[in-house]
This record gives sequence, C-alpha cells and structure tokens, in this order.
Amino acid sequence: MRILLLGSGGREHALAWKISQSSKVDKLYIAPGNAGTANVGENVNIKVNDFESIKKFCLDKQIQMVVVGPEDPLVNGIYDFFKEDEQLKNIPVIGPSKKGAVLEGSKDFAKGFMQRHGIPTAAYRTFTGETLEEGKTFLRTLKAPYVLKADGLCAGKGVLILPTLEEAEKELEEMLGGMFGGASSRVVIEEFLDGIECSVFVLTDGKSYKILPEAKDYKRIGEGDTGLNTGGMGSVSPVPFADKEWMKKVEDRIIRPTVEGLKAENIDYKGFIFFGLINVDGDPKVIEYNVRMGDPETETVMLRLKSDLVDLFESVAAGTLAEKEIVFDERAAVCIMLVSGGYPGSYEKGFPITGIDDVEDSIVFHAGTAMKDGEIVTNGGRVIAVSSYGKDKEEALQKSFSEAKKIKFQGKNFRRDIGADL
Ligand code: AMP
Ligand code: GLY
Repeated sequence: MRILLLGSGGREHALAWKISQSSKVDKLYIAPGNAGTANVGENVNIKVNDFESIKKFCLDKQIQMVVVGPEDPLVNGIYDFFKEDEQLKNIPVIGPSKKGAVLEGSKDFAKGFMQRHGIPTAAYRTFTGETLEEGKTFLRTLKAPYVLKADGLCAGKGVLILPTLEEAEKELEEMLGGMFGGASSRVVIEEFLDGIECSVFVLTDGKSYKILPEAKDYKRIGEGDTGLNTGGMGSVSPVPFADKEWMKKVEDRIIRPTVEGLKAENIDYKGFIFFGLINVDGDPKVIEYNVRMGDPETETVMLRLKSDLVDLFESVAAGTLAEKEIVFDERAAVCIMLVSGGYPGSYEKGFPITGIDDVEDSIVFHAGTAMKDGEIVTNGGRVIAVSSYGKDKEEALQKSFSEAKKIKFQGKNFRRDIGADL
C-alpha cells in the first residue's frame, strides 16, 4: 500500500516509524515531514493545509491512504475534501470529518456535546462580547483559580488559569476583545478541577473503538510542573493510576458515550480521539477532546502498540474495527523532549545537532529538525524526543536520560523529572 502521512513533528515521526514497520506498506510519504521522517519514508514538500497540492500528489503517486497527524487540516475539512471529490473519494482519510473535528476546533461545541451525552466534565458557561458583564457575574459565582478558554484553536495557548477574580475579569475582557483574534470571540469559563491528568486515546471507525495505551504528558517547561506551558516536555506510559478499575470508568462514562454520541449526531468519524482527562478523587473527567494523537504521547504510545497500525487503519476505513484485536507491549515506555534554549519563549533555530547516531538504547524521534547543507539542525522549540522501553518506567527513564546526554546542540534543555511524580 502507498500511504501519505501529513505533518512534521515528533508525533509524525513516531507514526511514520510505526507505519513503516507494517508489512502492508510499500511506500510511505510524509508531507512535509522532518529530518527524522526522511529515514523511514520519503518527505514531500507540501504543506498540510494545501489541499490542492495534496490532491495532485495523491493522484500522481496513486496514494491509497492518507493519515492525518495534526488537527489543522482536519478542522479545515480534509476528510470532506477527499470524500466530496470524484477522483479522491475512494482514498480513505484517517481522521474525522470537519463536523467531527469541531470537538477540538470549538471548546463550546465540545462542552455542549459532553452535556448532551452525560459525559463528566467541569461545569461551564460560554460568553461573547455582548455578554461580557454576565461573564463577570458568572466568574463571581466560582471559586479561585479561574479557568478561561478561548473557543477556537490557539495552538495550545488558548487556556488561561488565573489565581484572582480581578485577573480573571481583566483577561476575560481582553480575550473577548480579540486577544486571540476570532478564536477568542467566544470564551468558555469553567470550574477548576484539581487532580492528575492522563491522556487516553482511541481509534474508532465511527461504530466501534479500540483503546490504545494511555500516557501522561508533562506540559510545563520547569521541573516540578512550574513555569510556562509548552507543547509537552515528555511522556510516560503506562500511567499507574489508570488501572483496570479506573479505565473501566473511563470506558463506561466517557469513551462509549462519546462514540455513541458521535453516531447519534450523525458525525462521520474515522480516526483517533484523544481524551484529555483529569482524575478527580478517583473519578475521570474530560478536560478536552482532541481529534488526533497527542504529542509527545505518541512517542510513547507507538512503542507500546504491538498490533500492526496499518492493519488497524484499514479496518477503520472499512468499518470493521470490531473484528480486530489490539495488542499492547507490556513494557513501559517513556519519552523526554530536548528543547531549544529559551523555549517556550523566543529561541534561535539552525544550530547543528550532533550525536544522534551514537544513541543505542533509545529511539530518537525528530520534532523540530531540518537538514541544512547536509547537516541536521534545530528547527523548532521542541527539537528531539528520546524514547525508551524498560521493564518499568525507572529503567526506561534511565535509558532516555543517559542516551540524551549524547545528543548535543547549543542551548539544549530538558526536564529531569519526567515520570517522577507517578
Ligand atoms: P486544554 O487546552 O483544554 O487541554 O487546557 C490546557 C491545560 O489547562 C490542561 O491540560 C490542564 O492542565 C489545564 N486545564 C484546563 N481546563 C482545566 C480545568 N477545568 N481545571 C483545571 N485545569 C484545567
Ligand atoms: N500533549 C498534548 C497535545 O498533544 O495536545
């Protein structure tokens, strides 16, 4: 089979790594990819939102399946673009329809969806410029800290957690006044939930679903979960508190009602659902939905998936996922992210990276890298994920930290406490 994977981050390198292991794959292209994906497939210089160029490429190369990594093209309707095109309609796209992608594209829609289907989540209300004063009144009914969420996509920056009412009121005014452009023309205000987070992933064909290994992500830049939010500084799988009993609650209260809710609302959904959960006194609640895999969770989840991913994708497309069995690797997997100095604030790019070839005990996934004059250079905030297996997370962490020392670039930074809280 000839597959086109869209995206260019660590998530896509991990997906490409896993896809390339399938005996069903003859050729894997990644658009646009990065310096790492070039080792497991062929990079193509096309942007993920350039649907016309993607179409031309798929027809030229007789692509038989498109796998979508990031949310942007999904929210922009790539699934529907293929389905509605005479020449493309028989090429399955792994990812939800535009209607399904709204679960991530609009926080207000996601909250309404959860409410309609009785899925546990924080209490909330949504406000616009016209209802600013009502929003302030609602804030006064809540306890600190205050959670404000821009309705639309903000590349992970649209959630503010404010310690005082004064700050919350001020930020609400600024968000509704255009702080994130159109994305914050509506703002969800919700109850603060206190607990540990866990990312749970499923693959669905719209009727049935398979649960993938769960993972915990480390979002803050600083050790001990301090400082600014990042795209993710590392991940660990499995997550100890996500035991059988907890996962049964997740399946009964959250996963099944979500998949059934999508069906009941006639939402075409063939792809990944990412449940951002929080464990509140033993009960899982949904913080957010994403309509794609997580990054850097994918860099551990793919290690723990034994089943052939392309075989699963085929049954997603055919609507026969119920017949499949999903097999996990019992070992633990961890990933630590090496990031550019200054990230998530401003940072420089283009520094040469050395030592990748010396890594023996870990799997290196490129995130923000590029080739320049035959040399691998830094090309983003999150640069490289160092993923490892271990009999337990301690052993895996020890491998990742020890191998990470071999990889060098100017300004390299990483968190030394990944997994330490579990
Ligand atoms: P989101 O983009 O919705 O995942 O939010 C980003 C981060 O903000 C989450 O990963 C949580 O750490 C935090 N967060 C979001 N909503 C809440 C909430 N209701 N209570 C506590 N923390 C939250
Ligand atoms: N790791 C969180 C995300 O991918 O959104």
